[in-house]
Amino acid sequence: MAQARTAEATEHLGATQRRDAWWLELVPVVVVLGLFGIYATIRAFEGAYYAWGPYLSPFYSPLIDPNHHWWPFSPALLILAGPLGFRVTCYYYRKAYYRAFFLDPPACAVGERRRTYRGETAFPFILQNVHRYFLYIAIVFIAFLAHDAIRSFSFDGRFGIGVGSLVLTANALLLSLYTFSCHSLRHLVGGNIDCFSCTSFGQVQGSLWRGVTFLNERHMLFAWMSLFSVGLADLYVRSVASGAIRDLRLL
Ligand code: FES
Repeated sequence: MAQARTAEATEHLGATQRRDAWWLELVPVVVVLGLFGIYATIRAFEGAYYAWGPYLSPFYSPLIDPNHHWWPFSPALLILAGPLGFRVTCYYYRKAYYRAFFLDPPACAVGERRRTYRGETAFPFILQNVHRYFLYIAIVFIAFLAHDAIRSFSFDGRFGIGVGSLVLTANALLLSLYTFSCHSLRHLVGGNIDCFSCTSFGQVQGSLWRGVTFLNERHMLFAWMSLFSVGLADLYVRSVASGAIRDLRLL
């Protein structure tokens, strides 16, 4: 009987027996993802103010054909698909934007529009399964960002520390935590084995899996922190490169 009442109460969009303000959870997702999407699109097409001294904006890393020998548009457009595809197909973000933007469903135990549930078994959402391949690309991008972070401490060949060095390093670190806490990576390192002590490298694999699991439990946190850090790192480099602010040298 209780089950029948619950089913009735979630029959149409937004219908629910929940008494809490469940919709509040959707607001920050819409605002933050919406604003980030607009800012990142403008910056990707801008094609300017992406580098200053030893600093390179993460939106433009790796920097390809900055002098437009064969690519007439913004260099960011050449590399955008990698990080964007990784984030858009992320298991956590999928849940967040399906709920916030498609209301599908809006929240747990809250009614949705569709009566049938097909999950991600049909086009276009079946394409979300390419996430594991975007993971490989994302790991390559982490290597470039780590290189940029190290380079940001070199001012005309001499070691130094600017605020930008710290900003780019923090960003590389947070993006690494986001990437290495990925669900697909957790499956990759330990999901294909039932007994860690039964194989030659099982102990090593078990330790790796436990490490990734520790990070994976905090994946949502890293997803948001890295989204803020990558946006702010670009904004910092843009502000310094355009002359809006001066980089503060700490050493
Ligand atoms: Fe979020 Fe892979 S699940 S990055």
